[in-house]
Formats: sequence, structure tokens, C-alpha cells
Amino acid sequence: MSIVVPSLSVSAAGLSFHSPLLNASGTFNAPLFNQLFPLKEVMGGIVTKTVTQNPQAGNLQPRTTELPGIGMLNSIGLQNPGLAYTLATEIPELKALGLPVILSISANSSAEFAQMTEAMLSHPHATLIDAVELNLSCPNVAKGGIHFGSAADSVKEALRAVTGICPKPVFAKLTPNVSDIVSIGAAAIEGGAAGLTAINTVLGVAIDIHQKKPVMPRVSAGYSGPGIKPIALHAVWNLHKHFPETPIIGVGGISNAQDVLEFIMAGASLVQVGTICFRHPTIFKSIQADLQAFCAKDRLDSVSALTGCAHR
Ligand code: FUM
Repeated sequence: MSIVVPSLSVSAAGLSFHSPLLNASGTFNAPLFNQLFPLKEVMGGIVTKTVTQNPQAGNLQPRTTELPGIGMLNSIGLQNPGLAYTLATEIPELKALGLPVILSISANSSAEFAQMTEAMLSHPHATLIDAVELNLSCPNVAKGGIHFGSAADSVKEALRAVTGICPKPVFAKLTPNVSDIVSIGAAAIEGGAAGLTAINTVLGVAIDIHQKKPVMPRVSAGYSGPGIKPIALHAVWNLHKHFPETPIIGVGGISNAQDVLEFIMAGASLVQVGTICFRHPTIFKSIQADLQAFCAKDRLDSVSALTGCAHR
């Protein structure tokens, strides 16, 4: 009897990924972790930390606080070395890991999104970038981020500014902090998004009972980790229900293969693993092995056959 090894390959937005497992932006030091285990064997692609046109110093400390058992709050404030440095230095380093590279970008206006896209496309390393993720959802900045992503008009405008000139697939990373994520997803698709990433962090607050004050300097911060999984699944489910042809990258509280399968069955083609990486940077190894085992037990040729299956 021959043993069929199920394929974990996924095609989405015109790209091929040999695994549905990506990292969530800002949660993963890929070159460092590649020294612990070859990422190429257990991941499908790498997403950069979100970059802005110019370097940003980020928010005041503390920028993170652990919420034992349910995740963490972060308020990094998009600290990054700026687009020029990322293109010159980080992109070739990431591409050398042998995986598709997704550049995550944020801007304060549509015009700035267009300028960043032009700068990216005219850079000699542009060919090393496989796709772009527009971060329309960072909750920790005074301009851009969530301020773009909360209104359908500005989402469509941001997407148009980028997709009008960018031949690479563009994913829109959506915020869950809106009353109707489907209408925001619709605007992104109308603006030319090749896919949707759902979701970014959920707004949250922690109080220091000894200081009798909020823990985080900006009070509200982005909540991530296992507690947001049902919220993320709700978003993925509804986005897939309304836009079954649009690839979705599911993200939010994914910690193991069971979580990955839930997102795929709800409608995700790919997933991003984030907060768990701070505690278990090698988690991709066990998730990949467990996914493979599930597919083999279920006699599936390919994991992609499961996308959206819970809707049928
Ligand atoms: O604060 C931050 O840099 C978080 C970014 C994000 O959630 O997109």
C-alpha cells in the first residue's frame, strides 16, 4: 500500500505557498529564528514588520503587557527603520530564507501610500518582494493605521493608491474594531485588494491596581492571543461568506494546528501565527507536523480542499 503525503501547498492571489503558515507582522524575527530551525521547511512565507515611509521611534514604554492565559497587549507604535532601510537591508536577508516575502506597509495618507509603492517598485530589490500587505489597522498610532481602516471610503482610497500602480498582489489587513468588517472588506476589494488579512488586534485596556492607573501610556492598546480567536474566526467566516472568491489570510490567537484548521474551515486560505511565537518561536514545527497528520488521517490530498468547508 502506498502512503500519500498530503500537500500543504496553497495558491492564493496568484502566488504559490508550500504551506499555509505565515507569521503575523511584527511578531517574528525570521533571520534569528531561522538559526533555530530552517523556516523553509515549516512555513509558507514571511511577513515583515510594518514599515512606514520614514523611520519611526514608536511609543513610550511600557509597550507590552502580558495578560496571563489570554494573551497580551501591545502598543509598539509602528517602530521601524523606514522603507529605504528595509528595502536595502532587510528584504534581501528575508528573501535569502527561500520563502515568499510579503512587505507590510503603513502610511498617513493615500498620497503617501502611493509614494511608498513607487519607491518600492523602483528599488533594485523590488523583485524580491512577492506581495504587499497594507496595514490599515494598527490601533497604536495617532494617524494612519486604524484611522484609515475604520471607514470604507478611506480603505478604498488607500487600496486604489497602491493597486493602481503595483503589479504585485496587495492584501488589506483589516481591523476588527469596526461595527461591520464586511463593508470594510468590500471597500478593500473594490479598491483592488487581491486578498484580505483578518484580523489585526482588538482594542483593549489593562489597569495596574497598585498604581490605580492604566498600564499602557496610551491607555488603549492592541489585544492579541488566544482570547481573540473567536472574534477573528467570526471575521473570517463572514468575509468568506460574502467574498468566497477572495483569498483570506486568517490571523488572531492561532496557537496550534486545531486553530489553523478552524480558520481554514471558516474560509481562510492562509493563516498568520503571531503572539504564540513570543513564547514558542519554534511552534511552526509542531503546527506543520500536526496539520500534515490531520490531513493524512482524513485522507485528504491537499489542505486547501478544506478552505471554507464548514460553510458547505
Ligand atoms: O503598535 C504596533 O506597532 C502594532 C502594529 C499593528 O498592530 O499593526
